[in-house]
Amino acid sequence: MLIAASLLSADFMNLKASLERVLGVDFFHVDVMDGHFVPNLTFGPCVLKNLHAHFDTPLDIHLMVENPLFFVDLCKDLQPAFITLHAESTPHLHRSVHYIKNLGIKAGVSLNPATPLCALDYIIQDVDLILLMSVNPGFGGQSFIPLSFEKIKAFRARFPHYVGVLEVDGGINAHNAPLLRACGVNLLVVGNYLFSHANPTHALQALRGRD
Ligand code: DX5
Ligand code: ZN
Repeated sequence: MLIAASLLSADFMNLKASLERVLGVDFFHVDVMDGHFVPNLTFGPCVLKNLHAHFDTPLDIHLMVENPLFFVDLCKDLQPAFITLHAESTPHLHRSVHYIKNLGIKAGVSLNPATPLCALDYIIQDVDLILLMSVNPGFGGQSFIPLSFEKIKAFRARFPHYVGVLEVDGGINAHNAPLLRACGVNLLVVGNYLFSHANPTHALQALRGRD
């Protein structure tokens, strides 16, 4: 099980030290918001550049924005592991996914909780990562929406040949992580649970489970 630490729950007054506490994670998950697609603002290119300069941990960039290609251009020189955009954010999903891939970056597509899986039918073959939101995007520290389990199982049933990354984001903790893993999820985004834990190493062990 891969883990991405969601920076939204880091201590912004001590960002470097806060990230050093969770350095065992596989990715830093960076939620880029524009105040339009979601009602919040977060990180811009200056923060992303500094992250890239100070840490080797690969970036998993989650764009919660309108006009995602504008933000792709802002992030493209940071060699992120993934750039994920929302299916709901653009009428040109196919073009946008291929724009990212043509930059040599792995492309992901995300769905909000109420967006049906059929939105992926004609793009799934082209993507490297699917991100199913288990909260409504915009804020850290929300509660996991229980119906997400059914959606994840339905995803695996609908796309049995999909071999890319299946990522879930929102409200994940040591209690629901093993259940998500049993449903076939292989990348968990974790914010509040990880950053508020007294011992992040133990938190990571609990999230990953035993192999
Ligand atoms: C929500 C973000 C998530 C969020 C996860 O809009 O996409 O990445 O920060 O944080 P927790 O684990 O606190 O729900
Ligand atoms: Zn996210």
